Amino acid sequence: MTVSVSCEELADLREQAFQAFKYCCKNSIITNTSTITDDRYWGYLDVGMVRRLQEECGYVPPYVIEQARHLKTFNELNDVMALISKHFSQIRTDYGEVPRSLLYTFLYDYELFDYLKKADEQFDEKASGVRTSIRFDESMIIDLYGFDHATMKKKVKSFVSKASKENKWNNSKRFHLHEVIQIRETFFESLGRAETSSQAARVLTVYTQKGGVGKSHVTLSLAGALALASSSNKRVLVVDTDYQQSCTSTLVKRNLDGYFEYRQSLCVFDLFRKYTETEPTLESLSTFKEDCKSAVVETVIPNVDLLPASSDSSFDTQFSVGAGQGSKFIKPNALKVILDNICEENHYDYILIDTRPDIHASAALSYYAGDEQLAILKPTGTDVQSFRNFARRMAIDVIPTLISNRSEYTTPQKSRLIINQFLTQSQVQDSVVTILQSALKNTMYELMDVIVPNSTAATTCSAQEATIWNPAKNTTGKDDHNPLKAQRRVFSQLALKITHERMMEEGK
Ligand SMILES: Nc1ncnc2c1ncn2[C@@H]1O[C@H](COP(=O)(O)OP(=O)(O)O)[C@@H](O)[C@H]1O
Ligand SMILES: [Mg+2]
Repeated sequence: MTVSVSCEELADLREQAFQAFKYCCKNSIITNTSTITDDRYWGYLDVGMVRRLQEECGYVPPYVIEQARHLKTFNELNDVMALISKHFSQIRTDYGEVPRSLLYTFLYDYELFDYLKKADEQFDEKASGVRTSIRFDESMIIDLYGFDHATMKKKVKSFVSKASKENKWNNSKRFHLHEVIQIRETFFESLGRAETSSQAARVLTVYTQKGGVGKSHVTLSLAGALALASSSNKRVLVVDTDYQQSCTSTLVKRNLDGYFEYRQSLCVFDLFRKYTETEPTLESLSTFKEDCKSAVVETVIPNVDLLPASSDSSFDTQFSVGAGQGSKFIKPNALKVILDNICEENHYDYILIDTRPDIHASAALSYYAGDEQLAILKPTGTDVQSFRNFARRMAIDVIPTLISNRSEYTTPQKSRLIINQFLTQSQVQDSVVTILQSALKNTMYELMDVIVPNSTAATTCSAQEATIWNPAKNTTGKDDHNPLKAQRRVFSQLALKITHERMMEEGK
């Protein structure tokens, strides 16, 4: 609700605020914001008012001066925020434009397989216990594409040169990601592999206790890789359950002012709240279903949709996960129900859930909704320690809530560990990974053989609110080219491995 206030009233309010502050200063009773409960008064506490207080009272408590300084910052930053948003919306018009040379990466990444072949040949088990990439595997290539490596190399080259001639694409031609998806479709049709999967979505929850380990980076990069660089076009839904909105702010389409386009629609926390309020009647269940579907938005990456988060941090403080009744509890399967509702209308091959650090209601719901958990770990002492504590807390706090309540609630079938921000030159990290490999051998965690190296591409992209698949034009310059390529290679490997494993499981 907005209330319009006339100029006289404004002056009046300002005067009221001044009198309130003056009273508190004179009587030295102001020590925190709750001393003055009218929020509007704090809005008037600026440098001018502090000066006036100093003149009339002689003394202004340090608390008030601190508040004034912070409020000044708060107000000044409004303009900066608007400027940044505008800037992002402008560079976003460049996003998703990829050079012709990158078409190969998207169609059949023979450079990636050549790289794997070479790495395999050079790998010396004795010298280095750590294999940082998957093995070159000819049979996997045949499973995924229908042909061996040498044939695929020829096929993709002749496809691109034929299409270039027909469509008059020169070397400097850039493609929008939407075009890439279409070209891929034609290419896969030419291979006789234009399958459209009818399988239910596979839900991967990216979840670890620690913050800053790269959960959001992995979610975004893997989502793009599955949609753009796996063996065929996959439809992906990213669910952001972190109120810090890393995935949301990176993926949303923005309008020309830089603001999120979807502002009017529901976010994941709204759906959680609505879920708890939904009565078990046909009518309200169907309204809830509609709400779930309407909350999904398209993103800057084609074939990737988003169920956005908002900055609503209060959901996690208000709710706990449990089978109990009442407004404080939310059933463990809430997100599962929401995703089922969404999938009734939209087909997704993969759903990736990005979570907030630590064990909160939103993270627990995300965990319960997953078919698989992807845990992210940085190979440093403190991170391994916190991962160890996480495993313990999951065993003691989280799993029992679920198991003891209803047998119908399930935990993810698989839990895998991805090492992120690996320093390739560091012997210490090498040995941490070797020790981890053997320590995890008989545990529920499987260590992925694709290790994500530390990369400037990751930091550059997150500074631009972009993913490695749609960086702004000016970040793809010479210096950044190789790290970006290397990150894309790693996540392509991950995507191929995940899709291949699933293909084998489903006996296709
Ligand atoms: N492989 C990587 N190399 C370099 N920096 C990375 C890598 N992965 C993540 N980062 C950086 O680390 C920071 C935290 O990553 P983020 O994905 O936001 O972590 P989380 O979601 O676990 O809190 C970000 O600034 C991100 O750019
Ligand atoms: Mg995050």
